[in-house]
Amino acid sequence: KQIGKFKSPLPIPPVFMPKLAKDQSGRVRHEYEVDVSAFEQQILPEGFPKTQVFGYGGIVKDEAGGKYARHAPGPTFEAVRGIPVKVKWVNRLDGPHFLPVDGTIHWANPNQKSFPPAAYPVPFNPVTRKGIAELQAPIPIVTHLHGGENPPPYDGHPDAWFTKNKEKTGPAFKTDEYEYLNTQPDATLWYHDHTLGITRLNVYAGLAGLYIVRDSKLSLNQQLPDGDLDVPLVIQDRTFDDKGQLLEMKNSGESPEVHPYWAPENFGNTIMVNGKVWPFLEVKRRQYRFRLLNGSNARFYRMKIPYQGTFLPFTVIARDEGFLPKPVEKTELLLAPGQRADVLLDFSRLPSGTTLILKNDAPAPFSPDQPSLDPFEPVADIMQWKVVASIPRFPNPLPAKLNTIPSLKPNAPKRTLTLNEELTNSNHSLSLLLDGQTWSAPISEKPMIGSTEDWELVNVTGDTHPIHIHLVPFQIVSRQPFDKDRYLADWLKLNGKMPLDHPTKGLSVKNYLIGKLKLSEPAEQGWHDIVAANPGEVTTIRVRFAPIDTPVNKVKLGENKYPFNPGQFPAYVWHCHILDHEDNEMMRPYEVEVQHA
Ligand code: C2O
Ligand code: CU
Repeated sequence: KQIGKFKSPLPIPPVFMPKLAKDQSGRVRHEYEVDVSAFEQQILPEGFPKTQVFGYGGIVKDEAGGKYARHAPGPTFEAVRGIPVKVKWVNRLDGPHFLPVDGTIHWANPNQKSFPPAAYPVPFNPVTRKGIAELQAPIPIVTHLHGGENPPPYDGHPDAWFTKNKEKTGPAFKTDEYEYLNTQPDATLWYHDHTLGITRLNVYAGLAGLYIVRDSKLSLNQQLPDGDLDVPLVIQDRTFDDKGQLLEMKNSGESPEVHPYWAPENFGNTIMVNGKVWPFLEVKRRQYRFRLLNGSNARFYRMKIPYQGTFLPFTVIARDEGFLPKPVEKTELLLAPGQRADVLLDFSRLPSGTTLILKNDAPAPFSPDQPSLDPFEPVADIMQWKVVASIPRFPNPLPAKLNTIPSLKPNAPKRTLTLNEELTNSNHSLSLLLDGQTWSAPISEKPMIGSTEDWELVNVTGDTHPIHIHLVPFQIVSRQPFDKDRYLADWLKLNGKMPLDHPTKGLSVKNYLIGKLKLSEPAEQGWHDIVAANPGEVTTIRVRFAPIDTPVNKVKLGENKYPFNPGQFPAYVWHCHILDHEDNEMMRPYEVEVQHA
């Protein structure tokens, strides 16, 4: 039976209800207990089976004042700037995992059992969902608040995982009670699982949700659509078997003896928004604010809204970590995995009865020079809007200025970091690497607190990698084509064979540049926590190791402006946000240096 499109109304994830409490120093804070469990959800249209998922649950708001609910994507946190949040994360997963854990990649491995490639293929039976017992259970989890400015013990380090009842914990585990400070400005953040080597499985199973920080003192918020007109859209691709259960793409077949249950990128053949496949949303003739999150494992979306032979314009007002300096009108928007954008879409001038489809033409795997996705591919459709009969209300004009983004000046040497693909030995097992190093190599990025650094991301691979840094937002400076073959050959001559277990020797990209320098676009002028680094380009980002709202020139090298020590154990990480890549070595720890050496 074919999965029809635009059959189910768009669900809105419930909103967690906080318990009002006081911290040790008597300050008000919001407290939550959030659990992770397995349950079934009607993701496919009515008439299809329910799908087993893992999801977050807790007390959510309802008319009666609160009830327990769980959902995938998880209920939304509504955080208020200035009011800290405490979350107790509870793992209620009994296992076994219903997706195949791959014991040949570096992963949490709570039973400390390693299975040599030769032990495969021990078949993971896709019908019974049974594989090697010691790999499939117990199930470790750890939650990261993506985009949050929080101390390392609460950051959801990949090794800070824990299983049910905390029977087993990872080497970086400190606590299951996290405190989020919410000192940062208004932004659409998200939370998701981050367990070493199985993030792709846990997120695919449903472990992701939104975390919205609102600044109640910001007058701009009163001028923007709110309430029912402020709608989150969490976009994720999924594949279902004929029983309606989630399928994770297996190895492409190149090297089943090496990574039997890992594929370079897992792409789904259907698109799910807020946990429903191809939903529709009825809208009034008003302006809406949509908070877009690309919550997919590997798929990019290049979104457009066709209308009467052209494309409907929308206004981008915010990116990953807050408002843009000014609104930017667009007809096309690219979101890499993990990226967010807030857009205003005006239906007031459209006749009642109009239907619009949010289209996607991004190739998969993504690179800007690959041919666009065929518009008739199923995944070229994301969702539908239906304009219902209503009296139009035209939007107020937006203020010309939305935010002040400081213009930063580097005060520390720049870092040149390559994005590599590595084919190890004769097995041709593929891993993805940051600067030629694996996850377990010693920490080589130790920026000084208070510094502003340029990071040059030199992509010598064939695909675009969305690069994410924990703790710190950054500004996107430029993209510059370079001769990647010549650069890679010289880089390997200098640094030796990958994977490297030592810091790399710098190779200046200056002598390899070709083509024109492209400055970042108008819709990229805000604070980002993920940048799409294209193949054959040097992508330069400017990273400041200080809180996002520090005014320009108000922080010196060596000065800690955070209300906590960002230099503590277990440090932070930076990684590719293609989850299949971060699960297979494209992730590195980094440490903020707080004391002068
Ligand atoms: Cu959204 Cu380190 O992750
Ligand atoms: Cu990648």
